[in-house]
Amino acid sequence: MKKILLFSAVLAFGIAAEAESKDLPPYKDASLPVETRIEDLLSRMTLDEKIAQLSQYSLGSNDNVNNNGEMAKVLPPEIGSLLYTADDAVSRNVMQRRAMEETRLGIPIIFGYDTIHGFRTIYPIPLAQGASWNPELAGEACRVAAQESEDAGIDWTFSPMVDIARDPRWGRIAEGYGEDPYLTSAFSAASVRAYQGEDLSMPGSIAACLKHYVGYGASEAGRDYVFTEISRQTLWDTYLPPFEAGVKAGAATLMSSFNDISGTPGSANHYTLTEVLKDKWQHEGFVVSDWYSVHQLINQGMAPDEATAVEYAINAGLDMDMVDNLFIPHLKNLVDEGRVPMERIDDAVRRILRVKFMLGLFENPYTEEKPESERILLPGSLEVAKELAVESMVLLKNEDVLPLKPGQEIALIGPMAKSCRDLLGSWCGRGRAEDAVSIFDGLSVAVDTPVRYAAGCDFEGSDMSGFEEAVKVASESDVVVLCLGEKYSWSGENASRSNIALPGIQENLLKAVKKAGKPVVVLLASGRPLDLTRIAPEADAVLEIWQPGIMGGPAVAEILTGKANPSGRLSVTFPYTTGQIPIYYNQRNPARGSSQGRYQDIPSTPMYEFGYGLSYTDYEYGEIELSSDSLTADSRITARITVKNIGDMDGKETVQWYIRDPYSTVTRPVKELRHFEKRLIPAGGSCTFEFEIDPMRDLSFVDCKGDRILEPGDYYVIVKDRKVRITLK
Ligand code: GLC
Repeated sequence: MKKILLFSAVLAFGIAAEAESKDLPPYKDASLPVETRIEDLLSRMTLDEKIAQLSQYSLGSNDNVNNNGEMAKVLPPEIGSLLYTADDAVSRNVMQRRAMEETRLGIPIIFGYDTIHGFRTIYPIPLAQGASWNPELAGEACRVAAQESEDAGIDWTFSPMVDIARDPRWGRIAEGYGEDPYLTSAFSAASVRAYQGEDLSMPGSIAACLKHYVGYGASEAGRDYVFTEISRQTLWDTYLPPFEAGVKAGAATLMSSFNDISGTPGSANHYTLTEVLKDKWQHEGFVVSDWYSVHQLINQGMAPDEATAVEYAINAGLDMDMVDNLFIPHLKNLVDEGRVPMERIDDAVRRILRVKFMLGLFENPYTEEKPESERILLPGSLEVAKELAVESMVLLKNEDVLPLKPGQEIALIGPMAKSCRDLLGSWCGRGRAEDAVSIFDGLSVAVDTPVRYAAGCDFEGSDMSGFEEAVKVASESDVVVLCLGEKYSWSGENASRSNIALPGIQENLLKAVKKAGKPVVVLLASGRPLDLTRIAPEADAVLEIWQPGIMGGPAVAEILTGKANPSGRLSVTFPYTTGQIPIYYNQRNPARGSSQGRYQDIPSTPMYEFGYGLSYTDYEYGEIELSSDSLTADSRITARITVKNIGDMDGKETVQWYIRDPYSTVTRPVKELRHFEKRLIPAGGSCTFEFEIDPMRDLSFVDCKGDRILEPGDYYVIVKDRKVRITLK
């Protein structure tokens, strides 16, 4: 939608003046309150027009914009929304003009798309963003994504995905911010505020969509689209918090999930869609179903036929039907038969119209068709993408081999070394491999010595014919940088893997190049935690770069050369092996101590835990100091800790504050993240970090009804291995 401030102001003035002069209907009068305009428009709509508003089709993309134009000619212009996959706004404007000029009421279409981690400027996957512990920086990336999306004709992104995930076999763990409700909530709110800005109708703002509501990450055994066993207690203390944070941040929409939530699928779940979202949280936007998820109620054994699937979904509180085209053929009969009340239809229509009015679509239905050079891959956007990639990478091991020393001759080996597409990961919008800078290209321009290259092997398979060349290249160099990892298609939707270890060929390549007797730095590009039991011991350094986006190469180069000091900390636990899954930091204490109930054949602790990560400098933590060691429900105390950078490099350190409630009427995890702060600490300098403890916010727990419970007693404030007791009277 075209949103030039001056143009909008003049246009709004013009519309208001015109409304007065021509007695335009109130819903077209921008000077009136949104709720007034909604009621006026609703009162004019036929049932068919209302049902069309609740429906979303797709306007597909292909190379020939005329085909889009053809498709735009056959779609019904009364449709409420289109899932829009195109690189520019041309066919959007063609379709929108039909909606504005060929229909009785001229209700604009809202165009949605999966801008998940960038539209064309692709930045790190959300799992990597979580590892940056920098929601503000992630928000800057979302602003870039919003601008590029809006300029391409998109009003609404199906993002952020805020599913808590603790099973790395699940491919969509890549798409969320990790295993912790508090960290994910921080990114949820930051992303919503960034996408939507201060005012949805302003330039650079698009509607956000919290997804997948709710509990999708609990998919059994990491398979996709399956049953999820989630108790009400776990629903409230683990899966709902990031959605509540996003709703409080003002998210305009949510997307209902595929998964069957303990017997009631997310797209027909009255408890989550109405009792929680609409009644308890008072959400005034709308919920769109996930792709075909209304129709899938039949597969899931909830509905015997399409009409009943529609009846269950709309009555549960779903508002818009994504692309399975079931509302239009069935809803009218369901209303006539009294199976769906008109009040529910009207409520859904109000919600959708409300978002359209807030977006300013009635006044600004069209998008200015700017040339690509003015709207994508802009220098400032690339800089944000690179900075976020740098801050998301996690140094897991370093035996004094990083940063690389000037003049060192580098052997860059492995299937990931020259890959570009795999750096983008899944759900990479309209991103293109040719936009990405490979690790080889990024490193080659960053060092003053030649970078020798050998592929060594493919991502998988058994062809070891490249090993000899790889060992030769390693022998001729001072240090090996071995680039391993996952193909982009190994994670994302419908991309579950039964084993989170890399294919043996990659592990064998590591063993082979080790024979050259040179230090080996292993870079891992992946969309999930990996089993590193045969990699980490063999490597002198391990850097998890995730899927870093189009600036992955330059970001890797900055870290390897020491231009950037690694500051990423894991947003998800790395299990020792697949057999440990699920394993996550905020588990409940077992009934017996740490000596019993453990595996006989492997350790029962993870390979690398949530929050872990190394830097090139060391940080010396002081003791936790308290303004008081006791408090009451209506008082607050402050905890402080001073951290000193005792290394010779400036660095950003994240202090992670956890709370432990040792005894509670509902058992609590061994510790829960409740506050964090990332700050630059100059070499040799110190910073004092504070955590103001608000009992109801930080010490309470939520029960199975969603009510916050605060119980007197002892609590512990924990930072790293420091633990102090406080007493709530
Ligand atoms: C997909 C995904 C969802 C996405 C939607 C539209 O199946 O589950 O995350 O937003 O369909 O593409």
